[in-house]
Amino acid sequence: MSLLEIRDLHVSYPNRKGEFFAVDGVDLTIEQGEFVGLAGESGCGKTTLALSIPQLLPEHSRIAAGSISFNGVDTTALNEEGLRAIRWKEISVIFQGALNALNPVQTIGSQIQEPIRIHDESVSKKEAQDRTLELLEAVGIPSHRASDFPHQFSGGMRQRVMIAMALSCMPKLVIADEPITALDVMTQAQILDLLRSLCDKYKLSMLLISHDLSVLAQTCDRVAVMYAGKVAEQGPTSRVFGSVGAQHPYTQRLLRAYPNIRHERKFIDGIPGYPPDLSTLQVGCRFADRCDVALSRCATEVPDLIDIGGNQSVACHLVSENQVGVQ
Ligand SMILES: Nc1ncnc2c1ncn2[C@@H]1O[C@H](COP(=O)(O)OP(=O)(O)O)[C@@H](O)[C@H]1O
Ligand SMILES: [Mg+2]
Repeated sequence: MSLLEIRDLHVSYPNRKGEFFAVDGVDLTIEQGEFVGLAGESGCGKTTLALSIPQLLPEHSRIAAGSISFNGVDTTALNEEGLRAIRWKEISVIFQGALNALNPVQTIGSQIQEPIRIHDESVSKKEAQDRTLELLEAVGIPSHRASDFPHQFSGGMRQRVMIAMALSCMPKLVIADEPITALDVMTQAQILDLLRSLCDKYKLSMLLISHDLSVLAQTCDRVAVMYAGKVAEQGPTSRVFGSVGAQHPYTQRLLRAYPNIRHERKFIDGIPGYPPDLSTLQVGCRFADRCDVALSRCATEVPDLIDIGGNQSVACHLVSENQVGVQ
């Protein structure tokens, strides 16, 4: 059994015409100990998908269809009590833009300890303190700084505190939503390396969200790329960025759209046009308007996510038609 199995998930927000689907039929699986990256341009539904896992979606949103099985339990069917039991202790979230969410008048040590005290009554005060110091060291902050305040830390160090906090109740899955976006390039690489090493050290599963696919290539075991509420392509990093390569025209464009944070890259090639307005009815492939290689059927037929072998799957008519040869 996979740790997380999302099947045909549909999540909507209300609009003037009724509702629109920010997540529109997504399948995503995460294995125990697996580090999965989720990429896609801003507004494609990454945060909505992530927040649906521990049921932290805004009140006015709606899970209209699909299931989310975490450790064999459907989180969409849990009541508040059931959700309290899994949040922090089973699944924790590093929220997008949370870098400045630390309480300025509370020491970082007590902020890391707080979730343990609130969510895990079986842990004594001494154990919580010891765990806090261990976590600080694990995220690269000397433990003697536990009594310092957030303003005494740089942005990168504050992000390390947020990561320690997310690990405080020893969850099985950590969801990190754009954890490096606000940081400088050097610090970005360090935080990615840290997340990877913590994932291995504590045998965590990790869902790392970034609009920049190239940062995921160097960190994740597997990547999924979303476009306009759907998964365009997913597969093991070793295939998508290695032997086989990215197959979906959108994945290929996304890879060329950002400078690589670890290597100098000469050309940054933006993707012309804009993602579709999700609130209008979609027909055909959502990327068709911006796609250089679109076929006539792409304008009318929605492509299914098709397995092309090696656990890589792609939602593209052209790839499906040319499938012989890529396996
Ligand atoms: N709280 C919200 N209320 C209404 N619409 C939202 C809300 N959050 C996101 N959306 C809309 O849902 C779509 C997906 O957004 P989001 O999940 O934040 O994407 P991403 O994280 O990939 O940038 C966008 O069209 C966005 O405007
Ligand atoms: Mg987001």
